[in-house]
Amino acid sequence: MSQVEALARYELFIDGESMAPAGGEYFASQDPFTGKDWAMIARGSQTDVDRAVRAARRAFESGPWPALSASGRGALLRRLADLIGESAPRLAEIERRDNGKLAAEVVTQVNYLSEYFHYYAGLADKVQGTVIPTDKPGVLAFTRHEPKGVVAIITPWNSPLTLTSWKLAPALAAGCTVVIKPSEFTSASMLEFAELFARAGFPPGVVNVVTGFGPEVGAPLVAHPDVAHIGFTGGEIAGQKIYEAAARGLKTVTLELGGKSPNIVFDDADLDRALLGVVSGIFAAAGQTCQAGSRLLVQESIHDAFVQRLVDFVSNVRLGDPADPQTQIGPIATRPQFEKILSYIEIARAEGARCVTGGRARPEIGSGQFVEPTVFVGVDNRMRIAQEEVFGPVLSVIAFKDEADAVRIANDVQFGLAAGVWTRSLQRALYVTENIKAGTVWVNNYRATSYTSPFGGFKRSGIGRESGIEAIQDYFETKCVWLSSDLDVQNPFVRR
Ligand code: NAI
Ligand code: MG
Repeated sequence: MSQVEALARYELFIDGESMAPAGGEYFASQDPFTGKDWAMIARGSQTDVDRAVRAARRAFESGPWPALSASGRGALLRRLADLIGESAPRLAEIERRDNGKLAAEVVTQVNYLSEYFHYYAGLADKVQGTVIPTDKPGVLAFTRHEPKGVVAIITPWNSPLTLTSWKLAPALAAGCTVVIKPSEFTSASMLEFAELFARAGFPPGVVNVVTGFGPEVGAPLVAHPDVAHIGFTGGEIAGQKIYEAAARGLKTVTLELGGKSPNIVFDDADLDRALLGVVSGIFAAAGQTCQAGSRLLVQESIHDAFVQRLVDFVSNVRLGDPADPQTQIGPIATRPQFEKILSYIEIARAEGARCVTGGRARPEIGSGQFVEPTVFVGVDNRMRIAQEEVFGPVLSVIAFKDEADAVRIANDVQFGLAAGVWTRSLQRALYVTENIKAGTVWVNNYRATSYTSPFGGFKRSGIGRESGIEAIQDYFETKCVWLSSDLDVQNPFVRR
């Protein structure tokens, strides 16, 4: 038996069934820690996209799904949420193998998905139309929120099921049907997750998964005339292409595109807590998170002492196997990402920033796809290392004088996803919060997200918000209904 045949094999999931891709081809998914292929994934194409969208449209228009009440959809979502627990260990293991995130972190993330589905299960039957006190006599005008139709969900590799569920849970609660295109680097967990929807009782065609590459599956999916809305998380280049294609089809989008978020530490902060917040902000998941606090803005008076504490803290961190509970930083998830991070370390050096810890790959660990936690000081905010998203464990430290200076530097980037502020002064915290251009501001904490709370970016960090009550509106069209109680209908050709 060849090595390829021994690997786990994953098919597409369309219309409630596993099926082989039309082209009959498969591609390998690697484990970034071992560097070895561990699974073969169906390589979808335009034909598979057509099949999936057709199934999703059929499920949207006919059969049991459109006949369900909103409460009925909520009941299905609750059943799904309850099923997550038993599958969580397996789903977490798949995600760890695919992207190298620490076991402890993926287990927590996957278990937390259940809360997302419970939340939107509850919200499904609480979105109400309004009766409008219109100026026209003899009418009752009211609104209905109707599901948009078939939704495309396109996701990256850093938190595959979480970022999918941020879109999937509200889309289903609203009554849409979906076609999901997971990242080509981390497709397996979604294929196993999709089977839970069948077990929970979702009708065939409501949830479909087409795996494959961006140009071969993502692009035709976005361009498909029967897709009404696209929910995307990923990089700016793919995000722009999707937005352009959506414009041609006059479709709506939700885009979450990353950032260059500042973590601002004032001299009056609780520095023990600030240190932990700064470290987890940039080094959790080896910096491969959209909300990474990749710029540390630290007040001049405490700059040197704080940087020293930071260096002491991270220089002893354990890099290694993400399955080992002792490991603190795992591998970089993909080879291209690993190379991109190393190239930014070179860029920073060439720009004159000074590396005070890390700065190297670690070829002797596992597959060698490791980057040390890296801190650059002497960074000018105009440097590329301060302006561009690295998506890795690389922190740029920038000194500031006062509140106004901190806000000016914080806002002087094209992104606006998130920001952290560390201070004991209520006045400072409020000043920064009010003046910063970012979708999330964390005061004396960093990185918290929840199903209850809207998340998304200002400026080039994206369009729209996910999570919380307002996120469900992305999946509805509003219909205004005019009911007349006037028994006469005016003759338009006769002036009264
Ligand atoms: P990407 O943005 O290229 O891929 C994300 C998803 O979009 C994948 O499923 C991909 O197949 C799909 N896609 C790519 N091109 C497409 C197209 N033309 N039409 C439709 N779908 C398409 O992300 P990639 O290559 O994995 O990472 C590139 C950079 O993006 C990273 O270096 C990082 O800076 C950033 N990134 C940001 C994330 C975030 O959470 N905001 C997550 C992952 C990456
Ligand atoms: Mg992989």
